[in-house]
Amino acid sequence: MKKRIICESSRKLATKPTIFIVKVNSMNDLKFLSREELEQIRMEFGTPSFVYDENTLREKAQELQAFPHAFGFFPRYAMKAAPTAAVLRIFNEEGLGIDASSIFEVERAIRSGFGTESISLSTQELADDFRYWAQDGVKINLCSLNQIRKFGSWKLGEPVGLRFNPGTGSGGTNRTNVGGPSSSFGIWKDDLEKAKELCEEFGLEVERIHTHIGSGSDPEVWKKVAGMSLDLVRAFPSVHTLNLGGGFKVARMPDETATDLQEIGEPVKNIFREFAKETGRKLKLEVEPGTFLVAHACSLVSSIQDTTDTGSGGYRFLKLDAGMTELLRPSLYGAQHPINIVADPEEAAQRETIEQVVVGHCCESGDLLTPAPGDPEALAPREMPRGEIGDFCVIDSVGAYCSSMTTKNYNSFPEAAEVLKKKEGNLALIRKRQTFEQLIENEVVS
Ligand code: LLP
Repeated sequence: MKKRIICESSRKLATKPTIFIVKVNSMNDLKFLSREELEQIRMEFGTPSFVYDENTLREKAQELQAFPHAFGFFPRYAMKAAPTAAVLRIFNEEGLGIDASSIFEVERAIRSGFGTESISLSTQELADDFRYWAQDGVKINLCSLNQIRKFGSWKLGEPVGLRFNPGTGSGGTNRTNVGGPSSSFGIWKDDLEKAKELCEEFGLEVERIHTHIGSGSDPEVWKKVAGMSLDLVRAFPSVHTLNLGGGFKVARMPDETATDLQEIGEPVKNIFREFAKETGRKLKLEVEPGTFLVAHACSLVSSIQDTTDTGSGGYRFLKLDAGMTELLRPSLYGAQHPINIVADPEEAAQRETIEQVVVGHCCESGDLLTPAPGDPEALAPREMPRGEIGDFCVIDSVGAYCSSMTTKNYNSFPEAAEVLKKKEGNLALIRKRQTFEQLIENEVVS
């Protein structure tokens, strides 16, 4: 009882609750799974399980390949969004390269079949042993003045990229904005001369400029920063490639608008052409989205394992067998994901539509799957068919930064399984559910 009170008191109701309508058992609301497949997933793999869709992954990769460009284009996948080998292999087959953010991601990409030359690394931590990967062909974007010094001191003779913070950023939330004075990512724009001097001092050839300004970026800001990034290129005559990062918006909810790649790509293609006319330099373009490629390609299949009601003035809660251990974005950003309650077909028609709050299985009041948009602390009940124990709760558009960005093992819940719906339609396990033994295997009791 005490725990309940603590949980309640730390939550607040959104001042203007946003109500999303989700229909019961209307299978059109599910992105790529049928009711029969949900049953099969529960039987064969258990819940919660992440289920990826190969067709969507391939379609998105092909859409990205069609990005407008003037003088050559190489799309990369920001693998931090979903780094499971089966996903990486599909993108490898589709001809994408990799944007890695740590030495460990580089290792995973290589083990999944990527050649070193198709991997670019922009990391906050440039580990000492990274020099060997650089010698093996991994392309490194130095992200701070200290990284220039460190890489320079290795005297490898390998060309480098420089990641700049262009001074402006844009993200779906403040936490996903990584440009401007509040962001530590990249060399601050005003340190351009300093960066040049250091590269000269260490004899580093700069061949790439890199900017990434946020996730869920305003398309107008993204286009503007493309122009600003060309000014950075001007300062380095040896640069042949400009990488404009990722950040394309996707529409997870009906009121959201996705970025149109053709619409933002065309003006960028034109400024590359103008730049070539003016300077004679025909730059190659790179982009490296994560969200765009995977967000819609995955659903989290969970089960309602309990319900509770806090009476008039309170809420009806649906408690899942998943939560922040699988899906942290709502708790972290107040992010919105479509939620589908899938009941037994015979019962579904009788279910009334009511406001409900969906919570996770952790004893943590922040484990909330229906926060107010942009406000993780506020409850925003959703109008949904009355959920009951045993129903499926399928959370959609969870391909990006969900399975890869969790509070894994909190409350000692094991890591969920991952499944791939293959293009032939069959369901294949691509990551086993963690066992209890694996959960405690690194503990040492002396
Ligand atoms: N390139 C770099 C250097 C990055 O740091 C990122 C994301 C990307 C590309 C891909 O950005 P995307 O296309 O996915 O927006 N956890 C947040 C997003 C933070 C991503 C950090 N870096 C989320 O759940 O939306």
